[in-house]
Amino acid sequence: MTETSDLVARRVTVDFTGVRADWNQVHPEFGHLTNAMSLMLPFMEPFFIKTMREAKKRLPAGPSALKRDIDLFNFQEGRHYSNHARLNDIIRAAHPEPVTEGEARLRADYQRYWARGHKFALAYTEGFETVAPLLCDYFFGNLHRFGLDSGEAAAYLWLWHVAEEHEHRTVANYVYHELYRDYRYRVFGILFATWHVFAFSLPIAGRTLLDARRRMTARERWHSRARYARLLAGMFGMFLPQLALRACRPGYDPADLEPHPDARALLDEALARFGEATPRGAGEPA
Ligand SMILES: [Fe+2]
Ligand SMILES: [Fe+2]
Repeated sequence: MTETSDLVARRVTVDFTGVRADWNQVHPEFGHLTNAMSLMLPFMEPFFIKTMREAKKRLPAGPSALKRDIDLFNFQEGRHYSNHARLNDIIRAAHPEPVTEGEARLRADYQRYWARGHKFALAYTEGFETVAPLLCDYFFGNLHRFGLDSGEAAAYLWLWHVAEEHEHRTVANYVYHELYRDYRYRVFGILFATWHVFAFSLPIAGRTLLDARRRMTARERWHSRARYARLLAGMFGMFLPQLALRACRPGYDPADLEPHPDARALLDEALARFGEATPRGAGEPA
């Protein structure tokens, strides 16, 4: 287990001026699925922050590298969800009914999850944080296919977000090991978080896609269905073996995962394009 990491607090604010809910013209189905996932983040990431703040109180007294990383993790998650919340305003305006219904469900879900206790909250957090670096590799490995190299602000948001997810991949895992070290429960957390993400996002994406397909010709509708089926098959075909063969193993250490070379470069670029770095050691930046 590595005790120190290289997290950077980037004060990124993506400019969504002129962005539409159907921002992805290269792979519209990918746009709908990631829009549905985006809706979760202003509920999910505050839950992570709350969980990690509570974890900090439960760790041994005194300063430590892990506590410093928790602060930086919380800073990054805070920037993620505040940027996604602004994209979600655009998605909600285009699809008010499924989005407001979905958001009400998420509010209730995370209240229930918090009531299940800190071990559950941290296992859920760790579960998502185990899946997120895989998402990073998948997105950066398919930049062109998914229209993520378009320069669109929403595409940029996702690339910056998943690149930082890869950057802070060790934090929740190391905190979980410090506090609970329960292997089976960790696997449960991974499965539960993965189930929750897809149980929420697939039906929402299905509904917004149905809306979009009403404006398509019969031929375009068939192409759309085929593209969506290929997207899901590719995504699950990547995730499931990676989770089963690597991330769920007892000796899994997220520090061993190498970042995609383009992800590192994008983080520097994101800073130049949309933000500023916050000096380290300043506690948990607001
Ligand atoms: Fe995040
Ligand atoms: Fe994260």
